[in-house]
Amino acid sequence: MAFPANPFKPTAGVMPPVLIGRDYVSLDFSEALEDGPGAPDRLMIITGPRGCGKTVMLTELGSIAKQHHWDVVDETASEGLCDRLIARITPDPSAISGASFRPTAFGFSLGEINIAPELRPLTLRDAMHARLNKLGKNRGLLVTIDETQDADQSDITAIATAAQHMFRDNAEVAFIFAGLPSLTSDLLNTKVLTFLRRASIKSLGDIPLDEVRTAFDSTIRSAGVHIDDGALDLATKATNGYPYMIQLVGYHIWREARRRADNTDNTISRTDVIRGIEHARAKLGEGVCAPIVSAISGRTLDYLHAMAEDDGPSATSHIAQRLGESMDYANNYRSRLIEEHIIKAVGRGKVDFAVPFLREYLRQMPDRNGIALR
Ligand SMILES: Nc1ncnc2c1ncn2[C@@H]1O[C@H](COP(=O)(O)OP(=O)(O)OP(=O)(O)O)[C@@H](O)[C@H]1O
Ligand SMILES: [Mg+2]
Repeated sequence: MAFPANPFKPTAGVMPPVLIGRDYVSLDFSEALEDGPGAPDRLMIITGPRGCGKTVMLTELGSIAKQHHWDVVDETASEGLCDRLIARITPDPSAISGASFRPTAFGFSLGEINIAPELRPLTLRDAMHARLNKLGKNRGLLVTIDETQDADQSDITAIATAAQHMFRDNAEVAFIFAGLPSLTSDLLNTKVLTFLRRASIKSLGDIPLDEVRTAFDSTIRSAGVHIDDGALDLATKATNGYPYMIQLVGYHIWREARRRADNTDNTISRTDVIRGIEHARAKLGEGVCAPIVSAISGRTLDYLHAMAEDDGPSATSHIAQRLGESMDYANNYRSRLIEEHIIKAVGRGKVDFAVPFLREYLRQMPDRNGIALR
């Protein structure tokens, strides 16, 4: 029998073969849909570091809403967010003042839509009511916004204001905002958005290894591929419970096994696992560590390099020494890195990396000119 197709999906935003360890979020949301207007989980904020599964969670919650016969509008934050939402929600674009149209072969399509900022909350609210009226009884509308940390303050304010009114009107709507961990502090500290403080916050963390193992086991063995318990343990451990790494490890151990010429009985061997893990680590470096590192500026990056000199947690006093800075000064970088969930505080006066394999990645980076750490 030919080796089966690879079921793992190490690609941003692509649904994994098993969505591991997130049942509680799905359950909270399903119940909120059933409980009706006023249920707290109809307003959700999903946060977590890159690759923890925020986008696929939005997809999953969208499918749940569709099973309940709701309409779903997914948007990603970038310039013009609120106007785009209005354009996609309204059943009747001609009713929107500020919309322009361009002719097409079939009539007209909505072109640029440019609504005066002060009119946005009301226009969005009208659009949502019009959509709900068109949908009819017992149906609702879910709006999801991904990458919310990149949204304009004015867009978020307009959307939150409209959402607040929809909830007050007891409308069948739900809103889910997803973004990096800094999102919660940024959003919740803004005075206009006290409403968002009532959101149900789901912070997506690492997945317990026993659940990872069970999912690997069922995905691999149910496809008719053999793997022994020791090899399965090794693969499980290499993931650190990090969702993106789960897909990378699964994908690369599968690929090693599939490409091995002597593999006649569809087995993932221990050697396949060891080689697959190596490839997975390299890909993780490119896909996760490289973007994190490139988004960090000079001294903050030096802080990380200084941490990478240690094999385990670093004393913050040692880091300050290595940087040649005062503790107070070095702590500014520490706070920012903790807020971004790139590092974490572990016990008194110590920090450790919060992103798997970031230490190894930093160590193999070429030396940076002109920065003396020692
Ligand atoms: N619960 C899960 N179980 C198994 N794999 C998962 C889970 N959640 C996400 N993944 C996998 O992890 C990878 C990253 O998922 P996703 O793109 O949704 O993360 P993200 O948090 O949106 O990342 P980013 O912040 O970069 O947008 C994908 O390959 C996805 O299939
Ligand atoms: Mg995403």
